[in-house]
Amino acid sequence: MLEYSLVEEKIHTHEFDLFQSIIASPSQTSFNRLIYTDTQNCVYLYHANCLELMDAIIKKYPKGCFDMIFADPPYFLSNGGITCKNGKMVSVNKGDWDKSQGIELNHQFNLEWLRRCQVLLKKDGTIWVSGTYHVIHSIGFAMQQLGMKMLNEITWLKPNPPPNLSCRYFTHSTETILWAAKNEKSKHIFNYDLMCNENEGKQMKSVWVIKPPTRNEKLHGKHPTQKPVELLDRIIRASTKKDDLILDPFCGSATTGIAALKNGLRFIGIDSNIEYLDKLAIPRIKELNNKF
Ligand SMILES: C[S@@+](CC[C@H](N)C(=O)[O-])C[C@H]1O[C@@H](n2cnc3c(N)ncnc32)[C@H](O)[C@@H]1O
Repeated sequence: MLEYSLVEEKIHTHEFDLFQSIIASPSQTSFNRLIYTDTQNCVYLYHANCLELMDAIIKKYPKGCFDMIFADPPYFLSNGGITCKNGKMVSVNKGDWDKSQGIELNHQFNLEWLRRCQVLLKKDGTIWVSGTYHVIHSIGFAMQQLGMKMLNEITWLKPNPPPNLSCRYFTHSTETILWAAKNEKSKHIFNYDLMCNENEGKQMKSVWVIKPPTRNEKLHGKHPTQKPVELLDRIIRASTKKDDLILDPFCGSATTGIAALKNGLRFIGIDSNIEYLDKLAIPRIKELNNKF
């Protein structure tokens, strides 16, 4: 059952009434509706095309309002290939949202959503974007075209990746996460001491060995590209402070929201697919709230 809620109250102690008045009208390409509201913890989920919803937020906050953005955009790899899952040959197709439109249009899309994210970041805010080789080079180029300040390139190394069935390539076992600040003038947050403490007192390197989502993270079902909470937890702990406001414009099963809530941060998630929101994101967030 969906929760439809137009927020009536102010978001607890914070200055914003952002989410009661930015709701854009539905359009032919986007529902633009707020479908989950938790004013207590400040968690809001939107069923929308992120381009349109971000335009609506920009109208209200043209100078930005987010401390950090994590984005896991379509990888554009759902074009009929195969992979191996639990020892079986299966299609790599994730859904229509992941189909490539050709490299120029894919890049144009990346520029469009990244441009909006850049506007929506506060002046010292940062953005993390994950992807495979299908998309990450376009993302990195777009970030540079937009004048963002590149901070790090993280390699997420997956232990025990599925074998490569064709035996004509190396086994794909990594994803890349680019970390950038709004622009060259940004003074970004990096919780250096905390990261050292979490790495036995030594500087943390840019290769992170993290397992895929655990069984517990898939109790409500699995998003085809679900990220492990541990990955988002590290990203959040590295680059935010308590009470910060985070946006995920492609939130899927709301892994970013789960990590944000666990760390006492506020979260806005957007996804264009109602099933992911309804069956995965909302139940996961409600379940976590019940544990608090
Ligand atoms: C790679 S997945 C994100 C998975 C997520 N990180 C997780 O852990 O569950 C990308 C998501 O973007 C959504 N999506 C694709 N195009 C979109 C758009 N234009 N606006 C909003 N969401 C979109 C898809 O429905 C999909 O859930």
